[in-house]
This record gives sequence, structure tokens and C-alpha cells, in this order.
Amino acid sequence: MNIQQLGLKPPLGWNSWNTFTWDINEQLIREAADTFVAEGYKDAGYEYIVIDDCWSLKERDTEGNLVADPEKFPSGMKALADYIHSKGLKFGMYSCVGTHTCAGYPGSFEHEFQDAALLAAWGVDLLKYDYCFKPRHISGELLYKRMSLALKNCGRDILFSACNWGEDNVYHWIRESGAHMYRSTEDIQDSWESIKKLTLSQLDKASTTGSYCHNDMDMLVVGMYGGSNSSFIGNQIGGCSDAEYKTHFSLWCMMGSPLMIGSDIRSANQVTKDILLNKDLLAINQDAESRGAYRIKPEPQWFHTDDVFMLVKVLADGDLAIGFFNLSDGQREISLQFWDVGLPYASGKSLSLYDCWEHKEIGVFKERYAPVVAAHDCLIVRAKLV
Ligand code: GLA
Repeated sequence: MNIQQLGLKPPLGWNSWNTFTWDINEQLIREAADTFVAEGYKDAGYEYIVIDDCWSLKERDTEGNLVADPEKFPSGMKALADYIHSKGLKFGMYSCVGTHTCAGYPGSFEHEFQDAALLAAWGVDLLKYDYCFKPRHISGELLYKRMSLALKNCGRDILFSACNWGEDNVYHWIRESGAHMYRSTEDIQDSWESIKKLTLSQLDKASTTGSYCHNDMDMLVVGMYGGSNSSFIGNQIGGCSDAEYKTHFSLWCMMGSPLMIGSDIRSANQVTKDILLNKDLLAINQDAESRGAYRIKPEPQWFHTDDVFMLVKVLADGDLAIGFFNLSDGQREISLQFWDVGLPYASGKSLSLYDCWEHKEIGVFKERYAPVVAAHDCLIVRAKLV
């Protein structure tokens, strides 16, 4: 791949963590890749199959190399990478800036160049790089730069996915580290409260995301329905409603987050597939210019809390993607005054609106559009100037 393409748009894929945490093996990973091809995820643009934490033995070998757990991965990582590549997909793995990963496996601290070389030899295409067990005397900025340097010199194009949970002012230094995406939030849980909390924490971050360095709001919980094997993610929480998953996906698409599916796609129901494979939403997320979405507060402002807002993302062809989000617990009318997108009545211009969930034209409007949106739901339109 041309290095200039790496990270140009928010990466799309699947990651083992949310549902499977420690309970991973090569059969599962192969089946995830098979599902990507068979169920249309690959055709929709999903590309990376990522193994998260818990893949290695607890100790390095005598040469200091990481060792894939032979019980979980008896054929080894190179064979797994070859299998994923044979499907036309890409292979992602996980390590950590510290001495250990968050689950207590060896991290890459002071092994950065050795580990990058090993990952390259296995055929890895993405490295997710976590933040646990970081020595206090060294800055995260330095450690992300050190691994970035190692990856850029390992002889293989490896997409660098930083994961320091938005800590230590990461917004100010991550782009120059060479990371292609970076976690800007704490860990997601399979609950509406978590989706809402992460979203509200990112509304002022539109200027910190863009091509080649995407603000990552964490992996998707769409379709999990409480089905994680870990209480950290949500097996004791019970999951979300379909409308909440739809709103979650819409927010992540509008806000330009990488989309890493976290559910068991092998058994996804039709609603989950319709959400994850929504081509109109994916086109917004994958827009060529990767502009951040800015927030507009609806009128009348006294009527709304921070839970009700619009997001506007300017698309490469001049269209506007507009999301009407109602995160509150009651139904709301959400009024967009077109002066807020630069089109007062006096401009003489109208907006032709297309509904990205119903996949149909809504109509042509002047001056204002004010849909009624149910609690925890949203409306996403693509607006053309006419
Ligand atoms: C951290 C990360 C998660 C996941 C776990 C693995 O919590 O933020 O995304 O990778 O570690 O232990």
C-alpha cells in the first residue's frame, strides 16, 4: 500500500476485545475473517481483523521475543496473518507502551524495535498500542514516538493505533507522533450511559480529528446486547436497545471515529447487520476529507439541555451531513435554523434532504427543518444545496 493512503480515512474493522476479552483463539479469528467476506462487511469497506490483549504467553522467550500462546494460536501468527491476507483483509495485533499490557501480558517498553520487527515478520498490518504499566518517569509522548519510529523503520506499512484514553493532553502531541488513530476516550461499555458519556466528552474535539490521525471514540458495542464475557465491558449491564445502537453508530460515523466492530459478527442479527452495513452512514464516515463534525445547539435554546444537539460534517462534494441527536429521555422537536449552516432565508438557497436511515428523499426546505426525534434516537440527513 502507498504509505500516503495509510490512515487517510478512519480505519474500519473488527476487534476481539469487547466480546471475547481473554477467550480468543485462531479459530475465532479465522471465522471473523470468513464472516467479513461472507456477510458483506468486506464489500462495505471493513478491512482489519484485530486481536486485542491476551494473545501471548506471560513471558518473553530467551531472546526477548514475544511468544504467541501455542494453545490459543497453535498454527502461529504468521499462518494466521497469511489466512487473513488470503481473504483480502488486513491483520491487526495489540501491545502496550508499558512493561505489561492491561491484562498483565508482556508490554513493549524497551522492546519497541524488537517487537516491531517481529510484528512485521508475522505480516501484521495494524498495531493497537495501549497505555497500562507505563513507567512514571517517561512521558507517554516519548513512548508513542518511540514505537512510531520503530514501526516506520520495520520495513512494513503498519497502521499505528494509539490508545491512551485521551489522557496526558494527547490531543496536543499525538498527531506529530505519527499515530494514524488515537483513543480519545475511556473504555466503552455496552450501555447507553457509556455511549452518552463518551459522546458528550468529544463534542468539543472536532478540531482534533482529521485525515491521517483520527480521534478514536473506542470500539463499537453495536449488536452486543450484553454478550461480553467480561463485566468490564458489560455482561452485567444488559446492553442497549436497537435504537440506541443505531444512535451510537450514527454518532461514531458523524464524528469520524474509526469503526471497529466489537460484537460477535458470526451470530449478528439482521438489525445489527443493517446498522453496521448502512452504506449512507459509512459514506459519511469514510468521506474523502475526514472533517470533524461541529455541534449546533437547537432553537429555542432554553428548551434543550446538552443532551439534544445537531452535528454538521462538511463533506468533500459540498454536501452537508447533518445529525439530529436526542440523547435525552423524552421525545424532542429539534429545530435547525439554516442560518446556522450559512443559509439564511435571504440567501435564496434551499436544502434538499435525504434520510440516511430510511434511504429516501425527505424533501426540499427553506430557512428551517425541525424533525421530531424520539428519546435516545436520531435522524441523519445528507443535505444538498439547491
Ligand atoms: C484497555 C484498552 C481496551 C482493551 C484493554 C485490554 O483497557 O483501552 O480497549 O484493549 O485495555 O486489556
